[in-house]
Amino acid sequence: MKAKHYLVTGGTGFIGSALVRALVHAGHRVRVLDDESRGRSGRLADVASHLEFVPGDVRDPLAVQQAARGTDAIAHLAFVNGTEFFYQKPELVLEVGVKGMINVLDAMASEKVPELMLMSSSEVYQTPSKVPTDESAPFFIPDPLNPRYSYAGGKLISELLAINYGRSRIERVTIVRPHNVYGPDMGFEHVIPQFALRIAKLIAERGAEAPLPFPIQGSGTETRAFVYIDDFVDGTLRVLERGEHMNIYHVGTQREEPIRRLAELVGEAAGVKLEIQAGPLAPGGTPRRCPDIGKVSKLGYSPKVSLEEGLKRTVAWYLEHGQKSQP
Ligand SMILES: NC(=O)c1ccc[n+]([C@@H]2O[C@H](COP(=O)([O-])OP(=O)(O)OC[C@H]3O[C@@H](n4cnc5c(N)ncnc54)[C@H](O)[C@@H]3O)[C@@H](O)[C@H]2O)c1
Repeated sequence: MKAKHYLVTGGTGFIGSALVRALVHAGHRVRVLDDESRGRSGRLADVASHLEFVPGDVRDPLAVQQAARGTDAIAHLAFVNGTEFFYQKPELVLEVGVKGMINVLDAMASEKVPELMLMSSSEVYQTPSKVPTDESAPFFIPDPLNPRYSYAGGKLISELLAINYGRSRIERVTIVRPHNVYGPDMGFEHVIPQFALRIAKLIAERGAEAPLPFPIQGSGTETRAFVYIDDFVDGTLRVLERGEHMNIYHVGTQREEPIRRLAELVGEAAGVKLEIQAGPLAPGGTPRRCPDIGKVSKLGYSPKVSLEEGLKRTVAWYLEHGQKSQP
């Protein structure tokens, strides 16, 4: 890939920091804009001398304009992520999503930045009409009164803004829809870290010999397909390098697993057997999600890390760092 100067918003987050590191290693110049509300610049300590970190808020038009100055491409990742926040702070989710996207597009126009990659989400589909789901599936908001959809709504608006501003004013606009990315240091408001930490607590209380009682939300038949962070970054780099103008790419894996099985695998990675107990499902949950990754595969993408191997690495990280890193 020809060396470019990238601005990565949300670049100290879980995915952002991995993407920034990969861009630096590939020889690109990188500037990071993040308010560190959820990210930590310390995540980039190993490449800190090779990048420029600009602390700032994507809701601030001037901060975004200054950060965009002189760059060739923007990877826009800053967003309020984490399911708990969708319920607790829906107005903030939308504010960061919508103002952030508009500020990025305005900054691109005034600073003449030719390329945009927007990080969207699989959540835009809610209950997808077809599984595995390809990029042409329609998306909709089933209930605007449910605060959970603040996140999907923010992504949906961001996509429409990126596409319709980008159609004629941006040389190349691409959209990545990640499907359940996981890995070490991914935050705490997600299913895999929560399972890992609950298991760690159970082991501390009861030991690791007998099967441990493990209640889950819903029956555990809901499915997801999880992609390890290294594979996800590889797919995103391929879109940055070769993705076509006005195209959307699913990046994930097609290994669809029921949540019940995921819990068992997290248990195995922690060295214990679990006795899964079904419970009530949070409103707004989606029964099945798995991407069709045919389109990004044509760019040479092929995920390599198995769920077992990825969980081993991730669970080991949470068992080691556990509660210590929680804010
Ligand atoms: N992790 C996943 O599986 C997944 C799935 C679908 C979509 N995504 C999307 O990928 C992107 C990165 O997600 P992540 O998992 O790394 O989450 P993350 O929370 O670790 O990263 C988001 C980053 O944005 C920053 N941020 C938030 N509000 C900001 C603001 N107002 N100004 C500047 N920076 C701000 C945070 O500090 C954080 O560093 C997000 O757009 C997210 O919606 C992630």
